[in-house]
Amino acid sequence: MRLRPFRPDDLQTLYEIDQSCFIPGISYTHKELAAFIAHNHSQTWIVEDGDRIVGFLIANTEPRKILHIVTIDVLKAWRRRRVGTLLMEAAEDWARGRGLKMIGLETAQDNLGAQKFYASRGYRQVDEIPGYYANGTTAWVMVKELE
Ligand SMILES: CC(C)(COP(=O)(O)OP(=O)(O)OC[C@H]1O[C@@H](n2cnc3c(N)ncnc32)[C@H](O)[C@@H]1OP(=O)(O)O)[C@@H](O)C(=O)NCCC(=O)NCCS
Repeated sequence: MRLRPFRPDDLQTLYEIDQSCFIPGISYTHKELAAFIAHNHSQTWIVEDGDRIVGFLIANTEPRKILHIVTIDVLKAWRRRRVGTLLMEAAEDWARGRGLKMIGLETAQDNLGAQKFYASRGYRQVDEIPGYYANGTTAWVMVKELE
């Protein structure tokens, strides 16, 4: 498993992975995904197994020294093999290296697997946002303070 930065020709594969990871209304359109990645405060990390992309994470830097996780997606067949851990460690290390103070994210209230994943990494729920997703699902807001 190998971590590397995003390349423009990855976009279609990332879109297909996102479509496979989330139901319509939570997954991003091709245009949304392209815009998140292209944003000038955004970082994207890729994990490859051989020459296959098996996971990615997009995050953007926000005011008040916060890194916001836009999405983290791991192909189903590669889950529970530490791909998500590799991606979160990369984002957290990057944020610490730039003196950021906190990481924040939203996750669907019924996404128990993701909530457990984040909790196992020290994230705690601080809020919820009714109707956050296009399909009406409530989001949990979770954060982790960085030392
Ligand atoms: C959430 C997600 C990114 C986790 O990635 P992953 O590569 O499977 O995670 P890891 O293998 O690094 O897991 C690390 C630890 O997190 C916890 N964890 C991860 N997935 C879990 C799950 N489904 N249920 C319970 N605990 C989980 C476990 O403690 C795990 O350690 P263990 O396997 O030794 O028990 C992945 O399941 C995914 O892409 N899901 C679909 C998209 C999604 O929901 N993204 C997050 C939305 S905001």
